[in-house]
Amino acid sequence: MADDLAGEKYTAAVITVSDRASAGEREDGSGPVLAALLEARGYEVVYTRVVPDERDVIARVLTDCAASDVALVLTTGGTGFSPRDVTPEATASVCERMAPGIPEAMRAASMAITPRACLSREAAGIRGCTLIVNLPGSPKAARENIEAVIEPIAHGLRILRGGTADCAADDHPR
Ligand code: MTE
Repeated sequence: MADDLAGEKYTAAVITVSDRASAGEREDGSGPVLAALLEARGYEVVYTRVVPDERDVIARVLTDCAASDVALVLTTGGTGFSPRDVTPEATASVCERMAPGIPEAMRAASMAITPRACLSREAAGIRGCTLIVNLPGSPKAARENIEAVIEPIAHGLRILRGGTADCAADDHPR
């Protein structure tokens, strides 16, 4: 199995964003896929949650993860063009610094699989010492996207969390 983390054990959370899954009208397919993928890569998945496509609810769960000092938060769903799709906006609203290279790389890799990859508005950014990465909602799309960037993300986390920054600070401007 890949050893991206080079001995580090980073924590991770998986947030499924879906009105229907959160209402119990369909099963959460992508959350368990992502959690298993992260565990296989050496992450400790400490939190999973299904939330509706509500900007405030999404923002709150992301800020809670950052306040708990989770290293990596993956969201799945709500990145498309449906009027209810607001995950990227909720993510941007809580991030202090955006990391556009991650979604750029995911979309570039995904365009080789389907031209519809350009329809994902997925974003990524940093709050405190927490990296938040949006993924599309289907299990297949979520897996294809994260697999394109999971190795460089480990390097990014080492840089983000390897210094002397106070990761527990709760005085973030947003
Ligand atoms: N990326 C990959 N790698 N594979 C896919 O099948 N589906 C696309 C896109 N990205 C897809 C993908 C489609 S059809 C849509 S509508 C967008 O992701 C947004 O998905 P979401 O609304 O479930 O977040």
